[in-house]
Amino acid sequence: MIRVQGGAKLSGVVKPAGAKNTTLPILAGVLLKEGEWVLNNFPLVQDTLVMIKLLEELGCKVKVKPAKHQAVIKVPTKLNTSVESNIFSSIRGSIFLLGTLLARESEALIPYPGGCNIGQRPIDLHIKGLEALGVKFDLASGLIHAKVEGKVAGRVYLDYPSVGATENLMLFASLISGEVTIDNAAQEPQVVDLGNFLKASGVNIYGIGTHSIKIKGTRRFNPIMFSIPSDPLEAGTFLIASAMTGGDVTVKDVNPKFLNPLLHKLSEVGAEVRMQNTTSIRVLGKSRPRAANIKTLPFPGFPTDLQPQMTSLLAIAEGVSLVVEIVFENRFQHFRELNKMGAHITVEGRQAIIRGVDKLQGAEVIASDIRGGSSLILAGLVAEGETRILDDFHIHRGYENLMGKLGNLGANITSQIANREVQADE
Ligand code: UD1
Repeated sequence: MIRVQGGAKLSGVVKPAGAKNTTLPILAGVLLKEGEWVLNNFPLVQDTLVMIKLLEELGCKVKVKPAKHQAVIKVPTKLNTSVESNIFSSIRGSIFLLGTLLARESEALIPYPGGCNIGQRPIDLHIKGLEALGVKFDLASGLIHAKVEGKVAGRVYLDYPSVGATENLMLFASLISGEVTIDNAAQEPQVVDLGNFLKASGVNIYGIGTHSIKIKGTRRFNPIMFSIPSDPLEAGTFLIASAMTGGDVTVKDVNPKFLNPLLHKLSEVGAEVRMQNTTSIRVLGKSRPRAANIKTLPFPGFPTDLQPQMTSLLAIAEGVSLVVEIVFENRFQHFRELNKMGAHITVEGRQAIIRGVDKLQGAEVIASDIRGGSSLILAGLVAEGETRILDDFHIHRGYENLMGKLGNLGANITSQIANREVQADE
């Protein structure tokens, strides 16, 4: 359980951890070549540690050094091609092992991935894209059994710019001799980070950050030392918290381009957004936020992963806001919990109408996913009295030491879990 006493104005400087969503495909990417890889700025969150356990199951030797935020991964010449462990289904990122196992060993037998309960999250686009590149699938057993029957270079068109499908195809294409083009590719920060990682490892990759990514696969891969870029979602969470609490928070070591849609919205609700330098953003909460409308979209639209936190802000804004969730069909579970705290939110289909209230009240609420969980912490920061957030393990899946960092910014917050499991790994 996390306990938050409302009322503190946050202030100070904070540095986000390495991005969880970037680390997961990169952990699959290291499997493309045997040898020793070193990942710095490694985020110590549950999802990345689960992914490491899966790498160990495939035959890797991994050493995580928490004090240095470093993971050293020794990849063997031959990988196991099947994963049975049920932890596979506890994270979404496990699906990236499909692309790399097929690229390296031409076969994979894996369970279906899991992840936050925010929608059905099928993998049809991953399958369709890989089929176009010569992979055959057998899904009859309830597992994903895939075999490469001739790696075919060519063009793949994604019916929707899925982040995960784009990343899986990038990983698979990295070892294909010939050129693969992914059309209608995702442009999200983690796709750009994965592209930069592959490029640094020796892959010829063009169009990173655009809708058309071209990859000329190679066997001349080099295990490298790579620093995981910082987490724009964690950064965004602190900036929203600053705007909500009338605070003055600077987030450093961020790529402002990845936060552009959020920064526009923070200005729209009345916060002052200042670029301190090319990698530091300061947000000052000036007065009670004003209402604003939000529609989540693929990047560069407003990120679905910041919708819950922004909703907490709009819950106390002056006026009526409309939130439309386009990306995931079931990402409204935090609304019910916010209403327990006195928010006035009604949902119809993929739209929510938020009538801003003057004050939220502390209550006992339940986190249902990573970002929904952090949105409840933000609500607790501005609520009267104490908010207790149950099922906080969701939050620890994606945020490293969020409680400690918010505490350093002046929040009155405690967690029973802290980073106990992570520390034990040293
Ligand atoms: C990734 C992020 C997640 C973020 C999401 C959108 C990771 C580990 N997770 O998730 O935090 O919220 O991007 O920015 O990076 N879809 C299909 N078929 C598919 C694949 C996706 O219908 O084969 C649908 C999904 O159900 C969803 C939408 O496409 O409605 C977006 O999914 P996608 O972009 O693939 O997100 P993820 O990679 O799952």
